[in-house]
Amino acid sequence: MAGSNPHGHEPQREDDPRSQRLGTSGNTDPDGPSAPESWPVGSAEWECRAREAMGRQSFDWIAGGAGEEGTLRANREAFDRWALRPRVLAGNAEHDLSVEILGLQAPVPFFLAPIGAQTLAHPDGELAVARAAAAAGVPMIVSQAASFSMEEIAQAYGEGPRWYQLYWVNDREVVESLVDRAIASRHRAIVLTADTPIVGLRDRDARNAYSPFPMGHGIGQYTSDPVFRRRLGTGAEGNSQAAADLVARMFANYSLAWADVSWLRDRTDLPLLLKGILTAEDARRSRDAGFDGVIVSNHGGRQLDGVIAALDALPEVREALDGDSVVLLDSGIRRGADVVKALAIGCNAVLLGRPYLYGLAVAGRAGVEHVLRTMRTEIDTTLGLLGAHSARRVDRAFVTRIHGL
Ligand code: FNR
Repeated sequence: MAGSNPHGHEPQREDDPRSQRLGTSGNTDPDGPSAPESWPVGSAEWECRAREAMGRQSFDWIAGGAGEEGTLRANREAFDRWALRPRVLAGNAEHDLSVEILGLQAPVPFFLAPIGAQTLAHPDGELAVARAAAAAGVPMIVSQAASFSMEEIAQAYGEGPRWYQLYWVNDREVVESLVDRAIASRHRAIVLTADTPIVGLRDRDARNAYSPFPMGHGIGQYTSDPVFRRRLGTGAEGNSQAAADLVARMFANYSLAWADVSWLRDRTDLPLLLKGILTAEDARRSRDAGFDGVIVSNHGGRQLDGVIAALDALPEVREALDGDSVVLLDSGIRRGADVVKALAIGCNAVLLGRPYLYGLAVAGRAGVEHVLRTMRTEIDTTLGLLGAHSARRVDRAFVTRIHGL
């Protein structure tokens, strides 16, 4: 599989016309494009440029949410219900952005959320994202729905903070093989995504009658897996439709239950995190089941429409766990101020989702780098103006809940 690209594009984007439009052609300057004023400013503008750069179906698959997208909207609205409480004259010339999560040192309090099928945004997909994240020192959570294999992504990222995100499909031998590969390719933790026993019903995709998988996007972990390939049979090698059909049959797994977790716990000493937690009950159960941390998330509003906004669920999850338990959050993070609010309300770090995909769609690796750099600057400035000394020590006293919103 090495070097393979699942849908046949050349993985080379220095001459990408989309990059040229932004003045980034051939740009290797880590400080960004030659014409910085041409970068989008703010998340709405990035989204808008990404929509222009991608086909309608691909953009909708990335941007869309389940059902009528009530939860997608709620994720953003929840941030408006909290306001920052700054302290002046704080003497905080030094404000430290770094965090330590389960033994992993990160220079910034955000990780890249696991996002599948990134070749929809750009032919280099996860490889471009891995290079951008590694250059910025940002930890990356590699998706099981990636278009490239975890080994290829590991090579692009190099040594450093990578975690592997597992979808526990209904074929235990395939799960076993994926977990063993994740360990062998030196991922530092395993994130089990638990909110997706099936893929949510998304109106935009229904309207477009669209799924990226039959075209070969998002199935790179499977098509590179020896057990999966054995299941597929030799006749179907290279047939992405057949592979996507088999993934679809394997994917649905409503039977997975807490009792199964001990199998995973016994298989590896790596830290385990559970992604998709929205209640105090599940937070407590995850701890009892041997997870080392939780990720408060509703999958960016893509799974169950009408479910609570992730930020709204954070206080009860934090309260249910000890102060030193690891709690991460995603779903709706768009600006540095969002990150700081989430840290203040009670998480240890956040995951950045769609914004980096929009950077990827607009300008490949350089676009992702720009998004990461901007996010870092915004967090730094927010902490500074807030009068905070470090990302690790922003607490509830730095936010207030606005009632009636
Ligand atoms: C996701 N997400 C996701 N999560 C996961 O555990 N495995 C995956 O393969 C994917 N794939 C995926 C694809 C796309 C296009 C999106 C937008 C999201 C969910 C992701 O990890 C994260 O929870 C959300 O992206 C957070 O929401 P925002 O901040 O992007 O709105």
